[in-house]
Amino acid sequence: MAAVASAHSPTSLLSQPYWYRCLPADTDVHRLDRGLFAVTGNAAVQEALAHPLIVADHPLKASARAFGPNVLDADGPGHRAFRALLAPVLSAGRIAEYKRALIPGLVRGLVDSIAGVETDRFHDAYAHRVPYGIVCTILGIDASLENRFHRLTRPLARLLDYPTQETDETHANVTELLRLIEEQRRSEAAGAQSLLERIEWTRDRKGISLTDSEVRSTALLFFLAGTETSSAFITSLVYCMGRGVFDLGELRDEAVRDAWIEEVLRLYPPVQTIVRFAGDDLTVQGVTVPRHSAVLVSVAGANRDPRLFEHPDRFDIGRSTKGSIPFAVGAHSCPGAMLAKTEFSLLVEELVHRCSEVVVTRDRLAMESQSFSHPTDFSVEFRTR
Ligand code: HEM
Repeated sequence: MAAVASAHSPTSLLSQPYWYRCLPADTDVHRLDRGLFAVTGNAAVQEALAHPLIVADHPLKASARAFGPNVLDADGPGHRAFRALLAPVLSAGRIAEYKRALIPGLVRGLVDSIAGVETDRFHDAYAHRVPYGIVCTILGIDASLENRFHRLTRPLARLLDYPTQETDETHANVTELLRLIEEQRRSEAAGAQSLLERIEWTRDRKGISLTDSEVRSTALLFFLAGTETSSAFITSLVYCMGRGVFDLGELRDEAVRDAWIEEVLRLYPPVQTIVRFAGDDLTVQGVTVPRHSAVLVSVAGANRDPRLFEHPDRFDIGRSTKGSIPFAVGAHSCPGAMLAKTEFSLLVEELVHRCSEVVVTRDRLAMESQSFSHPTDFSVEFRTR
């Protein structure tokens, strides 16, 4: 099978936010280069993500090298053990508790600081506050360290991109974050409810065999997965609110609000591309993918597949989002989806309560990054009553 004839090299192709659009429409499984495949249509993406021979673990994966063994880069029983460690902090009961006692204060704090403000730095200065507040609390990290964790964590998104950007900075940041997590574990701040305590308790109670360093890597991965995804998506929420031509008051209704959030998730999934590997020779949609190939799975392409979503690039709050997969599918599907949706619903509720209008006042129509993607280079004004 010949590689896709394209005006772009794989590297320049993949650096474009909507790279899947540049590929021929006659197949959903594309050979981009030797040992490099891309999967784009909705059915093909779902098949690839659930495929038993398409694996997450690979010795050359930058995230595995940087973080050490962790949930995102494991398969089979090892992966299930990591998931079992995280389950207690993301249970429905715990989320109900966060919804009642934790998230409302964080959401009010954010909306207090943006009400009446026009900013061109929403993502850098504001979007992270609620997600970092939530995940630091879950991890038992002292609130005074939130900004430091934020500064160190944000560049790590590059480790999940393809082609990856592994630098001295990303390695130094991982080392420093693991040190801080260990330090917090020993401090007063990490109470009995902290993620680390919980992980260790679950490990010992369920007899899961994981080393202390694997426990720390799990905590760090949880931190990255729970903060930068949500920060990126909160930027997309605000952007769509600011560009939409509708009465904000409509979003007071919980069902309308949740449908609106689902449509933003369909159009702006923060994880646009997932990197996997062929564990053996296999086929996806009948196309042969040789063993050891990298397989780039386009969540963005799946969510804008015209065979499933009419006028897929159009924002349409009335449409069914069935088949939209912003949280992926299969063994690695996001365990934080329910927490994330709770967070977003409370934030939008507070924004429409406090603001008469949210307006994008300047827009260069630019998108940032593959792993934690969001609109960038725009200004937004939060007008109050
Ligand atoms: C907009 C918000 C979010 C989106 C769109 C999202 C999306 C995703 C996706 C697509 C994956 C699969 C990645 C892969 O297979 O390589 C994933 C994994 C994961 N997410 Fe989320 N996520 C969000 C928020 C959260 C939150 C709030 C948490 C926890 C507090 C979280 C924790 C995780 C973890 C631990 C994994 C790894 C699961 C595994 O490998 O088995 N995520 N997420």
